[in-house]
Amino acid sequence: MTARLQTLGICKHYDSVTALSPTDLTVQDGEFLTLLGPSGSGKTTLLQIIAGLVEPSAGQLIISGKEATHKPAGERGIGMVFQSYALFPHLSVWENIAYPLRMRKMDKAAITAAVQDALDMVQMGAYVHRLPRELSGGQQQRIALARCFVYKPSVILLDEPLGALDKKLREHMQAEIRKLHKELGATFIYVTHDQEEALNLSDRICLMNNSRIEQLGTPEDLYDRPATAFSAQFIGYSNLLRGTAQRGAGGVSVLHHGRHTLPLDAAAAREGAAQALVVRPEQATPCGATEALLNGQVTEVVFAGSDYRVLVDVGGDEPFLLRCSRRDAPEVGANIGLRWNPAHAAVVNL
Ligand SMILES: Nc1ncnc2c1ncn2[C@@H]1O[C@H](COP(=O)(O)OP(=O)(O)O)[C@@H](O)[C@H]1O
Ligand SMILES: [Mg+2]
Repeated sequence: MTARLQTLGICKHYDSVTALSPTDLTVQDGEFLTLLGPSGSGKTTLLQIIAGLVEPSAGQLIISGKEATHKPAGERGIGMVFQSYALFPHLSVWENIAYPLRMRKMDKAAITAAVQDALDMVQMGAYVHRLPRELSGGQQQRIALARCFVYKPSVILLDEPLGALDKKLREHMQAEIRKLHKELGATFIYVTHDQEEALNLSDRICLMNNSRIEQLGTPEDLYDRPATAFSAQFIGYSNLLRGTAQRGAGGVSVLHHGRHTLPLDAAAAREGAAQALVVRPEQATPCGATEALLNGQVTEVVFAGSDYRVLVDVGGDEPFLLRCSRRDAPEVGANIGLRWNPAHAAVVNL
């Protein structure tokens, strides 16, 4: 793997606001990297610094091994797609896609071939004469993607490109974007605040929080091994069992969580510290009293299509969420035990 792009201590301040704290990030050639995080966490700022649309306050940007911090945006070989499609309203679909090539003074035959190629890629060949306002939101976004791909940039930045579309169309377009990424072989940096979208699309996710990188890794890394309580709660659903880590009988590590003493992975335990066990709803199963790690009373059972969502009051601040098949779903009011494989439960510091 070779690095396509690297930020070294890149940061951005607006007066007293820190939009981006010093950030080191390496994006590999051809990878699909997603910047995921809540609104205001610095995703757009980082993307725009990479694009050359925002000047960083300090730090360095390296593109393809060369210093590019102050290189003009137009010379970076980077394409960009935004949430607002930013198509030219008075130009036809064809002219919108041809525009970046005309700007580059490409010859006519080459433009025709490239536009046709881009149209085929997004399956919009039948709409060449339409104006943007004569297209649906999904179609407009396809044209915006085609206009970006048409000049074959080696790096493509996408800032919440599906944010304006409804759920069904968004899922369809996600599949298309993945396919386009494979076909083009370009490096994609994709911004979203939607964790499910990030899990579906990415080779790696860069989770951002409060203007800095919270955790960087594959979707599986972030889901299975959240490094912080924020990661555990932002990606998927987590039951956080908070308590104090201690050495229990026989020298094993345990977590004192209310009236329960829970087994804790010895390598992650920090004696005397406030820590939390992260138990995903699908990791826990209902069980009898003798096998139970935790027990409590069922307060709610909600049908969720493929399974049931069961809330159990285990004496903590929040109820414990469990997912059960129709066959295993308990009744409201029942006292049940809960167990999971302690080796699979992540441990985070609080
Ligand atoms: N031009 C600007 N002037 C002042 N503050 C800004 C500007 N751009 C972004 N910010 C602030 O920087 C922080 C990060 O913004 P942004 O990168 O847009 O976040 P995100 O894309 O994750 O929602 C926010 O608090 C935002 O208000
Ligand atoms: Mg943004």
